[in-house]
Amino acid sequence: MCGIVGYIGNQDTKEILIKGLEKLEYRGYDSAGIAVVNENGVHVFKEKGRIADLRKIVNEDVPAQTGIGHTRWATHGVPSTVNAHPHQSSTTRLTLVHNGVIENYELLKREYLQGVELQSDTDTEVIVQLVELFIKDGLNVEEAFRKTLKLLKGSYAIALLDAENSDTIYVAKNKSPLLVGLGEGFNVVASDAMAMLQVTNQFVELMDKEIVIVKQNEVTIQTLDGEAINREPFTAELDASDIEKGTYPHYMLKEIDEQPLVIRKIVQKYQSEQGHLTIDEDIIDAMNDADRIYIIAAGTSYHAGLVGKQFIEKLAKIPVEVHISSEFGYNMPLLSEKPLFIFISQSGETADSRAVLVQIKKMGYKALTITNVPGSTLSREADHTLLLHAGPEIAVASTKAYTAQLAVLAILAEVTGKRRGYEPSFDLVKELGIVANAMEVLCDEKEELEGIARDFLTVTRNCFFIGRGIDFYVGLEGALKLKEISYIQAEGFAGGELKHGTIALIEEGTPVIALATQESVNLSIRGNVKEVVARGAYPCIISMKGLEMDGDSFVIPEVNDLLTPLISVIPLQLISYYAALHRDCDVDKPRNLAKSVTVE
Ligand code: F6R
Repeated sequence: MCGIVGYIGNQDTKEILIKGLEKLEYRGYDSAGIAVVNENGVHVFKEKGRIADLRKIVNEDVPAQTGIGHTRWATHGVPSTVNAHPHQSSTTRLTLVHNGVIENYELLKREYLQGVELQSDTDTEVIVQLVELFIKDGLNVEEAFRKTLKLLKGSYAIALLDAENSDTIYVAKNKSPLLVGLGEGFNVVASDAMAMLQVTNQFVELMDKEIVIVKQNEVTIQTLDGEAINREPFTAELDASDIEKGTYPHYMLKEIDEQPLVIRKIVQKYQSEQGHLTIDEDIIDAMNDADRIYIIAAGTSYHAGLVGKQFIEKLAKIPVEVHISSEFGYNMPLLSEKPLFIFISQSGETADSRAVLVQIKKMGYKALTITNVPGSTLSREADHTLLLHAGPEIAVASTKAYTAQLAVLAILAEVTGKRRGYEPSFDLVKELGIVANAMEVLCDEKEELEGIARDFLTVTRNCFFIGRGIDFYVGLEGALKLKEISYIQAEGFAGGELKHGTIALIEEGTPVIALATQESVNLSIRGNVKEVVARGAYPCIISMKGLEMDGDSFVIPEVNDLLTPLISVIPLQLISYYAALHRDCDVDKPRNLAKSVTVE
């Protein structure tokens, strides 16, 4: 979702800003803009559409040492050039970019800005007009910015330029992520370290309700009340090559192929010198002390949570509930006496999950975040973090983060179970090795899966995924993958559930993808396939070696029963990828979607 960059220094400001925005493209956006300030004032360039469209309109002849940039994912007001950021105050003295949602912007407009003619439909413009209003009342820019921030309700990450003071970027944040990057003779601002890795890997985290004055050789962090804050920078452990596509046509395909490597890396990261899987004692204590675990997540991470519940209940014998984060806050179940909350989030920034974290922390409960992004909001604000070590996931559709989440959840479940005296019947290190090898085999079978996508999904309007037990949860993830990137309406169902209503939608040629990886339900899921075939469905059965039958469309290698989701999802990811490709969809940046969903 929206991204911010800022730069102050002697290099090519416009190019650094645009390159930074390109690195943020993966987050999802529908317009983009930059503003640079020099002794002649502020120059704003903004455009609906892609960064490539913005590039075309940026005037190369405007030199500047200071600038800010933005990718906008529309919330208030349609995607358009007018609504694109940066926004300016009426006199154009002030120019501002903003991520987040100002919940009380209508009220602020009514109370303070009756006489001001607003140019856009955005909540953001209210912020920049308020700063100008308070300057007119006699405050300096910093004071006016502070006063404005104190009036805002909601989430924001903001970078502000003043045309009369071209050596400063004013920065603030609340709930939305924002970092300041440090360099020799320059400083930068970014929603995500990736955007500025081109110039630095030293970053300072900003906390909520902090204001930062960024100058070329100095960064000053303060609370909204002016109290100085000292904070050491951290080194972003990202490799610039991690965020390049290399020879791949799409990030999604690259990330699918990276899965065996990720699983091996996870095993290595969570293995002790003696070869045992190990997790921070405090985390295992927290798991062991809990009488019930509440997993909170959204989208693909929620689907990982559903499988994680099986791992924890089977290996550690602690009851688990899995909840969609956007529902939990409003519809909280009756909690047990000693709950532990586990937040699963690739980005660590999902606003819906963060809202629950804030809520349960206020209630005095402990939380563990499982995330791919060290230092992310959900990681910082939880009591404990487990990292996925999957490397940056750039494609909007999550693939390697999902299998990494499953691997980490399996390790957490196993280590907790052992502490509680439950010895697993298998060696997880060995089984995850088998999983990684099986993933490699599957990644080599792209041609076959492309054929399935072409045969089943080129012309269809809809598609159903069915499975029983753990296969049902993988089917949900398969359906999400397919719908988000190919725009085919796809739904996942428990095999036995179709006949309770949905079977009415089956007509001649409706594709039904069935998963059959579990011996205990192999015959019953095949019975469900017969039911839909009798009504005209076009079945595609994906089974596991040892359980295959004549007519199955694809057979995955055999792995431990409990771990099948780690590999049965791969054909579904690849089928979705090829279906999207054959339908000419923008695989890495599907319409209407954002990678990091930072609004509730
Ligand atoms: C789907 C997808 C989303 C995310 C969801 C949660 O492919 O990526 O459904 O899983 O938006 O995001 P995180 O995991 O970052 O909290």
